[in-house]
Amino acid sequence: MITIRKAVYDDLQEISRIDEEIFLDESHPQKIWSHFFFTGTILVAEERIMSDDNELIEVVIVGFTAYISMDQDSLFISPMCSEFMAINEIMELGHIASLGVLESHRCKGIGQTLITEVLSQFNKLPITLNVRVSNEKAINLYRKNEFHIYENKELNYYNNPSEDAYFMFRMF
Ligand SMILES: CC(C)(COP(=O)(O)OP(=O)(O)OC[C@H]1O[C@@H](n2cnc3c(N)ncnc32)[C@H](O)[C@@H]1OP(=O)(O)O)[C@@H](O)C(=O)NCCC(=O)NCCS
Repeated sequence: MITIRKAVYDDLQEISRIDEEIFLDESHPQKIWSHFFFTGTILVAEERIMSDDNELIEVVIVGFTAYISMDQDSLFISPMCSEFMAINEIMELGHIASLGVLESHRCKGIGQTLITEVLSQFNKLPITLNVRVSNEKAINLYRKNEFHIYENKELNYYNNPSEDAYFMFRMF
């Protein structure tokens, strides 16, 4: 059974480990996870592993997402946010900074469940994110949730390997 909950400080080491397993060289150092924890929100997807006679054996984190609220003064995550906010006269928005599900647990609706929870947290705020232009699975997930690709790509936004990003947004 999968449940979604807000991360607590003691989860950060495990989240960082899973981040490394999913994103390899692109993963965030643990201090960035501490930063997300104190400035935004981290949600974890947890699997409860039960025995045949329904005893709880173990609870393991199998996915996560991190999101933050951004205003005109906190545009450090994505320079494109600044342009997007100015053109659309937006004072505040939500930004999804990371989303990942362990490979063993993909295609079971966990990414969708995490996104649904994020959307419910941003009451009538636009939401933005960045995604590798080649990341079809994630782009499909975001499109399915009414995110659109913004006209300008963020050139060489990613390293290891170097790649452009789409800046995606969802309006309410
Ligand atoms: C992207 C990711 C989070 C999706 O998580 P998931 O739990 O497997 O996704 P779900 O099972 O909830 O699928 C939801 C939707 O995502 C899209 N999707 C997921 N897997 C897909 C695949 N293999 N091929 C195409 N689309 C896919 C589909 O639109 C799917 O909806 P559908 O089942 O109705 O077709 C997961 O693949 C992942 O962690 N990838 C590596 C990290 C990453 O790329 N993160 C995003 C960074 S921006």
